[in-house]
Amino acid sequence: MRKKIVAANWKMNMMQARSARFVESLLLEIGDISDVEVVILPPFTAIAKVTEALGTAPNIKVGAQNMHWERSGAFTGEISAALLRDLFVHYVVLGHSERRTLFGETDEIVNRKVCAAHEAALHPIVCVGETLAQRDKGNVDKILAIQLRGSLAGLGAKELQDTVIAYEPVWAIGTGRNATPEQAQEAHTFIRHTLREMADGTVAERVRIQYGGSVKPENARELMSQPDVDGALVGSASLDPRSFAQIVQAAREEG
Ligand code: PGA
Repeated sequence: MRKKIVAANWKMNMMQARSARFVESLLLEIGDISDVEVVILPPFTAIAKVTEALGTAPNIKVGAQNMHWERSGAFTGEISAALLRDLFVHYVVLGHSERRTLFGETDEIVNRKVCAAHEAALHPIVCVGETLAQRDKGNVDKILAIQLRGSLAGLGAKELQDTVIAYEPVWAIGTGRNATPEQAQEAHTFIRHTLREMADGTVAERVRIQYGGSVKPENARELMSQPDVDGALVGSASLDPRSFAQIVQAAREEG
């Protein structure tokens, strides 16, 4: 049985003080949670504050939204996996569509980062997803297969198992237009099928696949009721502790 995983992707938002207040409110809302894994993905500048505010709250982990693939050295402005580990970070989002489209990240770059994350025992959340034009042309499976095979190339069974996949159709991100539960399930089934081909059935059954793209309290339950939707990567609706808590609650009920 896969434990659902719900992550708050704050993107380039949230000052330190507001981050701490968010955590306080979230803890009041969801309490001591063990049946769902909750991850907060602050900007780098608020990671330490969020960790401090979480204290010993079990099952709420902190992640980063990006990292560089090199271990250390002359890479001005970059953050390595080791630097994230130093902040007690567990997860790192890699290959988000905003990184792919705005910052030119290719599957090869994402793959370097994924390998570097595993090397440092950080768990990557690897984002894949098609654009509207690709969907309209009937190329969803093709695009997902290319992104998965490229981004996850060279990973062993254990590393694959410790990787979370986020299916984020680009047309659903920040648009208010989420995929239907059927569209999400269809893509997730294909992703699991591809993982089966890349590794084996056992590994593919264990990998958690989140859905991301305009997830809100109103649609979270229906999306996460699908058999292969193992959680959510939430952007806009994660900036408000109440609405994020409602999405966590939906995961709990569908777990
Ligand atoms: P959204 O963002 O929930 O605002 O659509 C999701 C994401 O980009 O991870």
